[in-house]
Amino acid sequence: MGEEMTTVDMEAIVSLSKRRGFIFQSSEIYGGISGSWDYGPFGVELKRNIKNVWWRDMVQRRDDIVGLDAGILMHPRVWEASGHVEGFTDPLVDCKSCRKRFRADHVKDGRCPECGGELTDPRMFNLMLRTFLGPVEDDASITYLRPETAQGIFVNFANVLDVSRRKLPFGIAQMGKAFRNEITPRNFTFRTREFEQMEIEYFVRPGTDEEWHRRWVTERFEWYVRYGIRREYLRLRQHEGDELAHYAKATFDIEYLFPFGWAELEGISNRTDFDLRQHALFSGRDITYYDEDTGAHVVPYIVEPSGGVDRAALAFLVDAYREEKVRKRKRVVLRFHPELAPIKVAVFPLLRNRPELVTAAKDIASDLRPHMMTMYDDTASIGRLYRRQDEIGTPFCITVDVETLEDNAVTIRERDSMEQIRVPIPEVRHTLLRKLGRL
Ligand code: GAP
Repeated sequence: MGEEMTTVDMEAIVSLSKRRGFIFQSSEIYGGISGSWDYGPFGVELKRNIKNVWWRDMVQRRDDIVGLDAGILMHPRVWEASGHVEGFTDPLVDCKSCRKRFRADHVKDGRCPECGGELTDPRMFNLMLRTFLGPVEDDASITYLRPETAQGIFVNFANVLDVSRRKLPFGIAQMGKAFRNEITPRNFTFRTREFEQMEIEYFVRPGTDEEWHRRWVTERFEWYVRYGIRREYLRLRQHEGDELAHYAKATFDIEYLFPFGWAELEGISNRTDFDLRQHALFSGRDITYYDEDTGAHVVPYIVEPSGGVDRAALAFLVDAYREEKVRKRKRVVLRFHPELAPIKVAVFPLLRNRPELVTAAKDIASDLRPHMMTMYDDTASIGRLYRRQDEIGTPFCITVDVETLEDNAVTIRERDSMEQIRVPIPEVRHTLLRKLGRL
């Protein structure tokens, strides 16, 4: 195994993301747009894998959570009831000299962070992105792109309860896009204007909310560790009274030590019965849970683990990144958990001008493709092909060499240890599935 050289800096991550096809700047050919990013061929796989394991662990493997996929566009009254029209704001200040804008709470000494100029008094700025429904741009047609997926769950509480016949406690999970007109999008994909959330609204009996809140904080913290984030790079931080969202009684953030410092990966809030009561009030509907045991109608309390897919992807990327020295040369490797790795196996012929080797390698790749993300590559020397796969975090590489033609076996090279084993071709698929923990 190689010796580690440095700790990661953000520029290395941004540059690798572009070079290898994880993340591109949105609309780059037009000079880019702030706060929006595009995921390339490997980034999309990473993100998809994160979403798949989240869904599998939070929905498929539990019998107390069901899924939902609500629309991004909702009735404008939703955002009045939720408190977002009134209170989803950040304090904004302008520099009187260079005219740049900042979030007042991100400015340290009351002067412009760019030029040191004087700043205006803060004014509140609503973060919701407005849009118009239909052809007429008048007030009646205004609505918002959802700033959180959670509200789609609250307004469907009664529908889901009806069809799923759940007893408290139970949860509804959803993932999807959310939009916020952030004043200063920054730190690569960390704070963007368009992002994906993965949220659970977990409905519990009033009085059991604090216990469930604690359980969910632990559950979600351990989830990041399970998929490879180093424990010492994670911490919990409880919100101070003045930073709590308008709906929250208590919130814990799971923070990750990014190259730019500790920052929120996921928030787990005790939202009390605020949301269901607000929607009942604004819609005039009965949004309660009928307790068959006591004959009483209960407004459940809600514990909400709310994570960002993009932030999780960034943390997994940063945490996996290593620069090592191998035989005096630098090796960049992404040590992704195998479940998150975009490509599970790459297959190469040692010599691309030997048709028998090319055919054998292509056959192995075809055999593996139905079972795992597989890549065939013969566009460079073997050393370079290994380096490419290390940089995208592929756990296994298979090389077909001249000996293969005699012993019908190939070399499987493991990403982290760089150890190589010889495996008969008929056993390759089984060996990989076992190593990937799928058997
Ligand atoms: N429903 C609760 C809620 O939305 P939040 O703390 O505002 O709470 C939850 O957001 C998660 O969504 C955050 O922990 C973060 O991972 C992600 N998130 C929020 N704003 C984001 C942004 N501007 N860019 C990327 N991710 C964001």
